[in-house]
Amino acid sequence: MKKISVQPRPEADEENSFLRDVITGLSAQPKWMAAKHFYDAEGSRLFERIMRLPEYYPTRSEMQALRENAAEIAALIPDGAALVEFGAGSNAKIRLLLKAAPQIAAYVPVDISAEYLEEQAQEMRRDFPNLKILPVAADFTKRFELQLSVRAMPRAGFFPGSTIGNFEPLAAVGFLRNAARILGEGAPLIIGVDLVKDERVLNAAYNDAQGVTAAFNLNLLARINREAGADFDLSSFEHRAFFNAGRERMEMYLVSRKKQTVTVGGRPFEFERGETIHTENSYKYTREGFRDLARQAGWIEHALWTDPAGNFSVRALKTKS
Ligand code: AVI
Repeated sequence: MKKISVQPRPEADEENSFLRDVITGLSAQPKWMAAKHFYDAEGSRLFERIMRLPEYYPTRSEMQALRENAAEIAALIPDGAALVEFGAGSNAKIRLLLKAAPQIAAYVPVDISAEYLEEQAQEMRRDFPNLKILPVAADFTKRFELQLSVRAMPRAGFFPGSTIGNFEPLAAVGFLRNAARILGEGAPLIIGVDLVKDERVLNAAYNDAQGVTAAFNLNLLARINREAGADFDLSSFEHRAFFNAGRERMEMYLVSRKKQTVTVGGRPFEFERGETIHTENSYKYTREGFRDLARQAGWIEHALWTDPAGNFSVRALKTKS
């Protein structure tokens, strides 16, 4: 008898959940899309370019803060620790930390993409032959567990890039609570957090002269066309990004240049001229603002470093005991 599998293919499930998210976001008023959907292969390539743009200061500023304070940061990590990185995209930053803290016994990158994790793990095994590399394929914004062998070790967390800024404050507290549970009492969390600053600097960082951020934003429509069977005409939408001072966040939108109908998976969606799809928030925190947010999740700020210009903060948090 022919065996019938009742398990959905994981890829099919992912495709369906993407289509579901697109339909939900475009049916809402105002229209929106979750920022996590930016990162298909092309979106990840464009984000790599963003990080090298002259206007996009966060990556350079954070590297500077990490480099100049590496010894102090490393001193907070216990001997024989497993360093858990939430997300696994920041090769240069993790390397800097691992080199500064030779007492780290294991590196545990947690990322949703098993394929990307495996590629990165192979490189790390080659470059750090004495380090245990123990990847975990999981969505770190949800509840997940570490391997038993890692749970037996002292732990430290690393969450660079101000990715926390792309979470709504409530979700940021949720993530920090989850991280506290995963890392355990007394463990440090080293986290990169972008700071509130002159609006001109912020607006330039998300409206670069080469138009890479615009291409990154518009690529979302190309992805929806490809993966959700849509017919967006990319030339009839434009990129808009600005600092919302009241909410202390950069907001990104795609704006319809004309009245039009777009079909997604056979369903029509009407756009008025000037109507927007809200695609991203990137929260910027004051020094005290993030300290208070972390406290709500049970963390005490132990140290804060910035780059010399004071653009970006790297903080060491410890759980209240
Ligand atoms: C990934 N994340 C921290 C970036 C940010 O600055 O919020 C994503 C980004 N969006 C536009 N430029 C960069």
